Amino acid sequence: MRNFLSVNDVESVDSIVKEALELKKDRYRFSELGRNKTLLMIFFNSSLRTRLSTQKAAMNLGMNVIVLDVNAGMWKLETERGVIMDGDKTEHLLEAIPVMGCYCDVIGVRSFARFESKEDDYNEKILNQFVKYSGKPVISMEAATRHPLQTLADLITIEEYKDKPRPKVVMSWAPHPKALPQAVPNSFVEWMNRTDYEFVITHPHGYELSEEFVGNVRIEYDQDKALEGADFVYAKNWAAYADENYGKVISKDTSWTISTEKMALTNNAYFMHCLPVRRNMIVTDDVIESERSIVIPEAANREISAQIVLKKIIENL
Ligand code: CP
Repeated sequence: MRNFLSVNDVESVDSIVKEALELKKDRYRFSELGRNKTLLMIFFNSSLRTRLSTQKAAMNLGMNVIVLDVNAGMWKLETERGVIMDGDKTEHLLEAIPVMGCYCDVIGVRSFARFESKEDDYNEKILNQFVKYSGKPVISMEAATRHPLQTLADLITIEEYKDKPRPKVVMSWAPHPKALPQAVPNSFVEWMNRTDYEFVITHPHGYELSEEFVGNVRIEYDQDKALEGADFVYAKNWAAYADENYGKVISKDTSWTISTEKMALTNNAYFMHCLPVRRNMIVTDDVIESERSIVIPEAANREISAQIVLKKIIENL
């Protein structure tokens, strides 16, 4: 594997999930593989899980890790080419990226959608500059349009908890006070499309995701109907994607919150969310604290998803 930016960097979803589950049985088995290799993790946005799990995964492989918060102690970066840099931005990304590449063997980048330009977001303007100018393999630690490390962890978790070959998985939009990117739902849909699970997306009108990701997945606008018989409920908020409302919150309808009543419509489903989660907006206290909530094992599997990806990249260096 050269880069890990999307499901397209994986030969087979089924195989990488199986390999990840095998790795989980003994995560320290390859502790010499990353000796004298350095992972540089660059954060343009905040993180708890990605930061800790990816660092831990690299340490399991014997790698050195450098973490850089772009917004803390670093020169303020200009990202637009052609700008006369007479303002407060001291360094251009076009020098910063190759400099960062000098000090590491693999670069992880977290750079969310900015919702300033749909074109820039969906062309992955920041992430692709790292791919182009760093000279090093790049791992997406959540970019503008995708969060593949999260989705791989989600699929590992579903595989661990499913009790039938073809479970019904429902991804449900849920309300949130602020505009959130579509990266997690896009990725989840993109990867689910490479499994043979039964998969349904439910959201209010106006929250349609990009057709590039959704393809032929069933969309059910009636959340109650979608939840019927579900084995897994994957809750997530996202902002509108359509041009006229791109990046906007167009509904905070709390009738979409995943509650005990909603979960009662399912086949005693497991509740999943990538976290962080707004309680009693996305999901009620009762549901997230219930025995069927698997948000913590899901987060724990972030270490495994990052480790299998790093292992494959190191093996290809
Ligand atoms: N799920 C996830 O990526 O969490 P963080 O934003 O805390 O890294």
